[in-house]
Amino acid sequence: MKIALTGIKPTGILHIGNYFGAIKPALELTREYETRYFIADYHALNTMKDPKELSACIREVAAGWLAAGLDPERVIFYRQSSVPETFELAAMLMAFTAKGLMNRAHAYKAAVQENTEKNDDPDAGINMGLFTYPVLMAADIILFNADVVPVGKDQVQHVEMAQDIAQAVNFNYKTEVLKVPRAAVRESVAVVPGLDGRKMSKSYGNVIPLFAPEKELRTLIMRIVTNSQGIGEPKDPETSQIYLLYKLFASEAEQKALSARYREGGMGWGEAKEELFRVVNRELAPLRERFNAIMGDPAGLDAVLSRGAEKARPIAAATVQRFRRAAGIG
Ligand code: TRP
Repeated sequence: MKIALTGIKPTGILHIGNYFGAIKPALELTREYETRYFIADYHALNTMKDPKELSACIREVAAGWLAAGLDPERVIFYRQSSVPETFELAAMLMAFTAKGLMNRAHAYKAAVQENTEKNDDPDAGINMGLFTYPVLMAADIILFNADVVPVGKDQVQHVEMAQDIAQAVNFNYKTEVLKVPRAAVRESVAVVPGLDGRKMSKSYGNVIPLFAPEKELRTLIMRIVTNSQGIGEPKDPETSQIYLLYKLFASEAEQKALSARYREGGMGWGEAKEELFRVVNRELAPLRERFNAIMGDPAGLDAVLSRGAEKARPIAAATVQRFRRAAGIG
């Protein structure tokens, strides 16, 4: 079976955009691939310097994926920081990574450009973690012999850099020391509209958290901004973000029935929101319950992640050993 691997950056709470955009598609891959998913906590360290906040995020994101259905018996699920071979491999890969390649990384270039526009020092606020981010990510991927890396579009360049770096190593030793990965871009995934109609994104502050308590969930949905069409007016479901959200959670039959009611008129936005809340809560209530149970048992969560690390480390050690031998450091 081919190997799929992806890293989950523990920054901020999970929301339903993450659920449909990343979590569900990643969990579906477990049927076709051997999967290795990890919490990229050292990546998060670049931007998160508050220890309480970082440790809370790591736990919440790990618990969130488990609550959403990640089965740690089928997926090797671990924290990046529990696999120190990652950092040994990253150091080795540095020797094969052109500095110019890092200069071209989008995230770094954007940071430099922002500084330049502000007439600031081009390197202001840029740490070496940000600059070398693609090397650490390449190590994450290459360490586990990943064939495919399911990512969003914004991460494709990083995976291509991992490809370049692995190829540079193989070219030098004239043998396939390292597996060359490829990105599997999530294109077909529905765009999840946020509370204000724009794409749901943490940076827009328009998210519906995946594990919000029922009351808060209801309040958020009731607060969705609508146009001023009255109850009697027929409405176009396909341009209503309430309906677009509804579609993600409702069955085919429910979708048909509700879109007919939109078109007929006689249903106001308040009722449309109630109906949306009903289907969202139906799907999320069991997840919320599991999430709360996992968060209430920190030792249990640690045990799951340590078992994952135990499974991950021999694979990681074998890759590093293979590379060291090829390099003459054996
Ligand atoms: N950079 C990814 C992100 O920001 C997270 C990540 C870290 C990752 N290491 C990875 C993704 C390895 C895929 C493979 O979302």
